[in-house]
Amino acid sequence: MAILKIARMGHPVLLQRCLPVADPGAPEIRRLVADMMETMEDAQGAGLAAPQVHVPLRIFVFRASLERAGQDKEDTVIGSSVLINPKVELLGDERVQGWEGCLSIPGMRAAVPRAPRVRYRGVDCDGVAVERVVSGFHARVVQHENDHLDGILYTMRVTDFSLFGFNEELGQAAAREQES
Ligand code: NI
Repeated sequence: MAILKIARMGHPVLLQRCLPVADPGAPEIRRLVADMMETMEDAQGAGLAAPQVHVPLRIFVFRASLERAGQDKEDTVIGSSVLINPKVELLGDERVQGWEGCLSIPGMRAAVPRAPRVRYRGVDCDGVAVERVVSGFHARVVQHENDHLDGILYTMRVTDFSLFGFNEELGQAAAREQES
């Protein structure tokens, strides 16, 4: 396994619409997913999408630990997971502001409006279908990562720019959220 170099905001790969994966079980895809997991964990991120490691394919890895997700009883905890060729459906019209960071935009945070609940589908590296309805931090991470596959960064979703800035300046409330 290897720790991959993360593309930072401004790199054109982050603005691309990514392509579907033809063979999720291919050895090169398994290797990429393993390296993405290691890279996410090394960077202490909550998620990482393939374009963030310069690969414009529809793949992301993510996790929502009890520590991160446990602040709200609606949250759905999950260990390190992969989703290939995901489809994410926002449930309901409600949107809630929550702090987000991104490994491609180091040192910064913003409050971003997201659906509190989503249904997502996709496959893993064994081609096994995944379908879940999730809430809270888990739902937020999946929306953030899925946006990366369409070339959308969280900064493009910000509606209140008074809630956007450097971690060091924003202080404790923002610092509790993790990067993805
Ligand atoms: Ni991100």
